[in-house]
Amino acid sequence: MSGPLVLGIETSCDETGIAVIEGYDVKSSVLSSQVDDHARFGGVVPEVAARAHVEAIRPLAHQAITRAGVHPDQLDAIAVTRGPGLVGALSVGYAYGKSLAYSLGKPLYGIDHMEGHLFAPRLSFAGYEPPAVVLLASGGHSQIVHVRAWGEYEVLGGTIDDAAGEAFDKLARFMGLGYPGGPAIDADAEGGDPEAIPFPRALKDRPFDFSFSGLKTSVTTYLEKAKEAGSLPPRSDVSASIQEAIVDVLVEKTFNAVESTGVQVVGAGGGVLANRRLREKLESEANRRGVGLFVPEAALCTDNGAMIASVAVDRLFSGFEPDALTLDVDPGLGLGS
Ligand code: KG4
Ligand code: ZN
Repeated sequence: MSGPLVLGIETSCDETGIAVIEGYDVKSSVLSSQVDDHARFGGVVPEVAARAHVEAIRPLAHQAITRAGVHPDQLDAIAVTRGPGLVGALSVGYAYGKSLAYSLGKPLYGIDHMEGHLFAPRLSFAGYEPPAVVLLASGGHSQIVHVRAWGEYEVLGGTIDDAAGEAFDKLARFMGLGYPGGPAIDADAEGGDPEAIPFPRALKDRPFDFSFSGLKTSVTTYLEKAKEAGSLPPRSDVSASIQEAIVDVLVEKTFNAVESTGVQVVGAGGGVLANRRLREKLESEANRRGVGLFVPEAALCTDNGAMIASVAVDRLFSGFEPDALTLDVDPGLGLGS
C-alpha cells in the first residue's frame, strides 16, 4: 500500500476528468473532452460545458473506478475541484463529489484547480519537493509561484492581462487556426522560423509578471499590414514567432524567480506546458543552470482528475481535516487567497 486511495474529479472548464490514485500512483485517469462541442463557437460556452459535464460525469466515474480495479468502498477520500473556473461547470462536479462522499461515507476535499496543476508533477516524479518555483500556465491563469512547503504558496507574479493559454487561443482564432489555439499553434509552428518576426516581449522591467495583450495587438497589426502589402509570410513562420514570444517570456520570468529565491527545484503545470517549444526551452535553461526541472507528461499538464486527487493525498498525509459537505464551489478561488 503506497498511500491513500483517492477519487479525483475535475470539471472546472471544458474537460470532465476523473481519476483514481493510490498515494501518487495513478491507477486510472479518464477524460471526456468537450472540444468538439465548443469548437464551432470558437471558445468555451459555459452553459454547454455544464450540460456536457452532467452527461459525462456518472459513466466516467464508473469507468475510472472499474479501470482502477477497486471498489468504491475502498476509497479513502473524494477530491473535487472547488474553483477557480466556470460556476456551472464546477457545480456539476462538486455536487456529484459531495453526493458520492455522502452516500459512501467518505471524506470530501474541495481542491483549488491551480494547486492541482502545481501538484501534478508529483504524480510523475518522487523528487519533486519544495522549496520550488512553479510556473503555472493555463487557459485562465498564468502565475509564478514560490512553493515554500506544500500548502505554503507565495505568488511572485503573473499575467496582468491575458493568461498564456488565452493568448494562444485568441491569436489562433485570429489566424483561423481553430479552437483550442495552443495545440493548433504548436502544430502549425513546426518547421516555421521562430525568429522570422520579432514580436514584442513585454514587461521587461517587471521580473515575475507577464502581459500578452500587446503581443495580440502587435500580431494583428503586423498581419493586417502584411496582407495589405501583399507580403504575408508563411503561416508557420507567424505561428513559430508567436509561440517563441510567449515561450521566451514564460521561461525568462520563471528563471528570474529561480535566481531571486535561490531554489534548486522548478516545477511547471497547466495546459500550456503541453507546448513542445516551452518544454524544450525550460529544459535547456534548467540544464544550463543545473537545477532540477519537473514537468509531467502532456496529459498531466492539461486538465485531469489525477492532479486534483494528488492534492488530497497530500492533505491526507498531512492529517488535514476534510471539508464540510455544506461548503460550495468558489469560482474566484486562487492560490494564496
Ligand atoms: O490547464 P488547461 O487544460 O485548462 C485550464 O485550466 O484553462 O489549459 C488549457 C489551455 C488552453 O488555452 C490551450 O490552448 C492551452 O492550454 N494549451 C496549449 C497547448 N495545449 C493546450 N498551449 C500551447 N501549446 C500547447 N501544445
Ligand atoms: Zn487547468
